[in-house]
Amino acid sequence: MAKILAVASQKGGVGKTTTALNLGFSMRHLGSKVLIIDGDPQGGMAIASNLKRRTELGLVDVMKGECGPEDIVMLTKDKAIAIAGVGRMDPEKVVFLENEARQGQLTTLIHTLAQGFDYTIIDTPAGVGGIVNALLRASDGVLLMVQARSLSLKTLPHFLKLVNWIKKNGHPSLTLEGVVLTMVHPNSVLEMKIREEMKSFIPERLFIKTVIPFNELFEQASIRAVPVVMLRNGLKAYRPYINLAMELKEREYEKEDTSDEDGPGLF
Ligand SMILES: Nc1ncnc2c1ncn2[C@@H]1O[C@H](COP(=O)(O)OP(=O)(O)OP(=O)(O)O)[C@@H](O)[C@H]1O
Ligand SMILES: [Mg+2]
Repeated sequence: MAKILAVASQKGGVGKTTTALNLGFSMRHLGSKVLIIDGDPQGGMAIASNLKRRTELGLVDVMKGECGPEDIVMLTKDKAIAIAGVGRMDPEKVVFLENEARQGQLTTLIHTLAQGFDYTIIDTPAGVGGIVNALLRASDGVLLMVQARSLSLKTLPHFLKLVNWIKKNGHPSLTLEGVVLTMVHPNSVLEMKIREEMKSFIPERLFIKTVIPFNELFEQASIRAVPVVMLRNGLKAYRPYINLAMELKEREYEKEDTSDEDGPGLF
C-alpha cells in the first residue's frame, strides 16, 4: 500500500533531514519506489542531497502556477530515488507557502506528487506551525524524531497535542507511526534516565525499537550532501536506517494482518 510518511519534531536539529534522506534510501534498498519531499522552507533536503543547483523550482513554484508538478521531481544520478524540493525561498515565497498551506493547496499537491510511489517521505520544518500542519494533513503517518535530552522531553507533549488536534479536526486517519530516538549515546546514564521518563507519558508500543546512534559520519555526510551509506566506512552508520525501514515495514504488515477480517489466504 502506498504511504506518505512525515518525518517531524518539535525541536530543531534532531536529525529529521538526515532521517528523511537515509530512511528514503533504506526503503529504496529494500525494494520500494521512493519519493523524498523537502517540505522545509529552509531547504535542508535540497542541500543534503546535493540537488541545490537543480532544485531552484519546487513546491512553491507549482503552487504559484509557474511550473507543473512533474517539473519539480528530480531523479538522483543513479535513478534510484526521486526528490522534490521546496523551491528557492525568499520571504515573499515563504509567506505565500504558508498561506497556501492554510488553504489546503499544499496537501493536494503532495497527494499528486506521491502518486506512483510506494513511499513518500516528507522532511518537515521543526515545530508545529502552519506548514507542518499542512504537511501532516497530507500524510498517512508521522515519524516523530526525538533526542534523549531534557528539552525534547519538555517539548514532546506539544507535538503529540498537534497530532491529536489534526486527527480530531479533519484528518482522523493520521497515525503516529512511532517515536524514533536519534543521536543516541548507548552508554549515557543521563540519556537512559530521560528515555525512562519518556516512557511515563508515551505508550511503549509507540517507541520504535530501532534507535539511531550518534555517529560523526552523519555530520560528514551532511557536509558532502549525501546519505551516509555513500561515505567510505558509512555502512555501519547506515545500518540502523535499514533496520528502521525494516521495522516500519514490519509494523505495516502487522497492521494489515490484524485488519484482514477474512483470515489468512493468498487469493
Ligand atoms: N545520528 C546522528 N549522529 C550524529 N550527528 C547527526 C546524526 N543525525 C544527524 N546528525 C547531524 O546533526 C545535524 C542536524 O541534523 P539534521 O539537519 O538532520 O536535523 P533537522 O532535525 O533536520 O534540523 P532542522 O530542524 O534544523 O531542520 C546535522 O549536522 C547532521 O549531520
Ligand atoms: Mg531539517
